[in-house]
Amino acid sequence: MCILYMAEPSSAAEWRQAFSETVLELEFRQWPDVGDPRDVEYLIAWKPMPRLMEQFPNLKVLYSAGAGVDQFDLSDLPEHVSLVRLVDGTMADIMAEYVIFAVLALHRDMLDYQISQRDRAWAPLPIIPACERRVGVMGLGNLGQVALERLQPLGFQLSAWNRSPKDVPGGRCFVGVEQLHEFLGQCDILINLLPLTPETTGILNANTLGALPMGAGIVNVGRGAHVIEKDLLAALDTGKVGGAVLDVLDQEPPQPDHPFWRHPRVLLTPHIASNVQVKGAVDVVARNVYRERRGLQLLNTVDRSKGY
Ligand code: GLV
Repeated sequence: MCILYMAEPSSAAEWRQAFSETVLELEFRQWPDVGDPRDVEYLIAWKPMPRLMEQFPNLKVLYSAGAGVDQFDLSDLPEHVSLVRLVDGTMADIMAEYVIFAVLALHRDMLDYQISQRDRAWAPLPIIPACERRVGVMGLGNLGQVALERLQPLGFQLSAWNRSPKDVPGGRCFVGVEQLHEFLGQCDILINLLPLTPETTGILNANTLGALPMGAGIVNVGRGAHVIEKDLLAALDTGKVGGAVLDVLDQEPPQPDHPFWRHPRVLLTPHIASNVQVKGAVDVVARNVYRERRGLQLLNTVDRSKGY
């Protein structure tokens, strides 16, 4: 029985070390040193692999080396193989840090002040208290929920939009496509933490961006494909969207002539909002091996009918 590691090679030693510190009797192998492929019951991968089952006929669990699973074609995976997301509490903490940073940067007009600084202009803007700023989170999975909880002590008016109703501390949870425009209409700052599925691809487009209040801020820490980039660019240029903090783009890295590189109203980071935390991820695998042996439901499994 072995676990095959096929994700980022530069992190393999850290994963190997973390596995060696568990009580698991699980041999750690690193791609491409597969050995006998019939031994592979667990696989950690970030990118999909063609003909997975032909190569590893005894595969039981595919662990996505990240929070998202949109890179995998779920229809390719037989029902008896579970797909598990390697999210843990620390990954959610790190994401919440970024979200707080981005919300505060937009809330306190940091994009304007960067422009002023470049122009050597000392140009104070009116200060709006957090209690007058409406901040909305799209997607209340574990990352979205932690982000919302951490934003609450800052005093913003919070709301969320989700596929199913969830608790929003001190605010309202808007539910389903019927309430999307109503939700957007009351977001001074919008945070996207949705999973990428066929239903959410391109969800931030000319139509939905048009529903935001004038000058709204956007934080995208979901996936680049949630946003129709040319529509966001148009909304930034008209001032409909006042600023965007983007950690993910359709193409990463973007082409050198991509307009977001130098757009004064865009703060771009290279997909670093959060990442998989090896210790926590190995803990998820260890707990799942334990659970599997006792016939219990695995942790963090992806519901294939929903795609997350
Ligand atoms: C990163 O974006 C991830 O899905 O972990």
